[in-house]
Formats: sequence, C-alpha cells, structure tokens
Amino acid sequence: MPTTSTNPHLPFGENKNADWYGKDIISVKQFSRDDLEYVFGVAHEMRGMVERVGTFDLLKGKILANLFYEPSTRTSSSFTAAMERLGGSVIPINEVKYSSVSKGESLPDTIRTLECYADVIVLRHPETGSAAIAAKASKKPVINAGDGVGEHPTQALLDTFTIMEELGRLDNLTVTMLGDLKYGRTVHSLARLLSQFSNIKLNYVSPDILKMPKEVMDEVGAKGVPQAEYSSLEKVLPETDILYVTRVQKERFEDPADYEKVKGAYVIDPTIMKVAKKEMAVMHPLPRVGEISTDFDEDPRAAYFRQMEYGLYVRMALLAMVLGKA
Ligand code: NCD
Repeated sequence: MPTTSTNPHLPFGENKNADWYGKDIISVKQFSRDDLEYVFGVAHEMRGMVERVGTFDLLKGKILANLFYEPSTRTSSSFTAAMERLGGSVIPINEVKYSSVSKGESLPDTIRTLECYADVIVLRHPETGSAAIAAKASKKPVINAGDGVGEHPTQALLDTFTIMEELGRLDNLTVTMLGDLKYGRTVHSLARLLSQFSNIKLNYVSPDILKMPKEVMDEVGAKGVPQAEYSSLEKVLPETDILYVTRVQKERFEDPADYEKVKGAYVIDPTIMKVAKKEMAVMHPLPRVGEISTDFDEDPRAAYFRQMEYGLYVRMALLAMVLGKA
C-alpha cells in the first residue's frame, strides 16, 4: 500500500514500487492478488485526490504517447484524463492515417520513435501479441490498451476494482459473462484475472459461434475454477453475482452474414432482470449497441457507468506505478 503524505503534490511520497517501476503492462497474468490490492489502494488514493483537488503534480513533466490503431472513446480519453490529472501531458495519435503508419512504418519503428519523445506508451492495436512486440522494441514502459482479440489488461483491472466497489469482494462469486466471448478481449482478461480468487464460478453464455476460446478455458480450468457454457441466460441469471455483458464485435467477423445471425442475440432489460438477485451488479466495458436496454440504466444494479468512472482512477494508478511515483 502507498504511504500517504500530507503534501497534496506528492500524495505517495517519492517511494518507488520496485515491482512496477519501468515495467510494461501486457497481460493480466502479471498481476497477483497482492498486486491487485496494491493497484486498488493507489486507485483509491487517486479517487480521493481527484475529488479533493482535481488535478495535481505527481507526474509533472512526464509525457504519455497514446497510440491507438483501433477506435476508442473510453480507454483513450481516460488515459489522457489520467495523465493530465496527474499533471503530465499527452501525445495523442489516434488517427494513424495521418501518421507515418500510413506510409507503411512498422510497429517497432513507430514505437522506437515515440520512446524518444515520451516516458510511457499506451498502445491499442488490432493484432494479438502486438503489445508484446512493442514492449520488446521499447525501453520505455508499454501499456497494452487492447491487442486484437488477445487481452485488455487495464480494463480487467478496472473491472475487478468495480466488482470490489460494488460487492466488496472478489472471492465467493458467480460471474456470468454474456455475449461475444470469442472476440471480446475484455472477457479473456477478466476470466484469467478472476481465476486466482477463491470459490469463483464462471458461466459463459454465448451463441454457439461466439464461445469462450479453449485456450482461455484451459488456463482458467488449470486454476481449478469451475466453468460452464450455456446458450441461454435463463438458468444462470438467478445465481449470478456479476453479469458481465459484452458487445458482439462486428469488426472482427470474417463473414458479415455471421454477424447478422448473432447480433441482438441477448438483450438485458428490466423484465429479464426480475429473476436476478437484488444484490448483484450488471457490468459492460461499453460501448453497448443494444445488449442492455436503456430502460435498465436507472436500476441500482446497473454498474456500467460507475465502472467507466473507476477506469480513470485505475489508469492513474497504473501510470503512477510504471513511472515510479506510486
Ligand atoms: C472494449 C474493447 O475495446 O475491447 N471497449 C473498451 O475498451 N471499453 C469493448 C468493446 O469494444 O466492445
């Protein structure tokens, strides 16, 4: 846990967490339970600071290169907000068509360029494994903001932070993941991250062609976590503590006809939610494209907008950690 200082400009003192200083964040596999506790502790401090002073100088003079080869609203703007709330600044590259990428520059060369100008690089890229390739090319920390259908570790960290905030525990949970479990990288990371907690049960509800990949199920199964696959939500909704809804990832389908067959397969609305527990939470990484009816938004169990806000504090914590200020 960070030490708290009374100086608002140095809330965590100068103590560098040797474990994370200078490190890349590529996969949730890097995070133990203790690491999560540490991240959450720092994220709580960040939340307090944002509420009290808004912006402060912890990362003053530091520069983040925010390199997005795929569309993003939340991840990109929350990293920008996180860096700026910590007093740092951002090189935003989200229209790669205006950068040298459109001239055919390779990812390692683009990364080598940005590391000359920035202290940390956040990367979203359509290919699985791209974050690891970038990290290899860079002497500066690289944070994976989604590598194709691979992983989305910072999302899984903010998701678990959200579960703690909503239900107060990460053990003894039945988590039901719904929707596109094949292409949804958020659920790949979340299932892996949750597998280290006790008494976790994972239900996967998806159309037949969008099942959780075997590779992820094998990893989670090796940790002794029970997993069950369903095509309908009916049976598992009453026992569910966390319902994690995902969008069908249209852009990743090879055949658009397949997308047409499965889009709109599940829609969460107040009627369906009548059989769910009173104390549970519905989460979604967003954007939603109809999987959760807006009629459900006012329900206290609808946690997806709070989840989005927590992303800011978790990303502030991660930036401070890899830059040696937390
Ligand atoms: C997700 C992503 O990019 O994987 N979005 C996000 O980061 N919040 C989910 C999605 O695009 O469906």
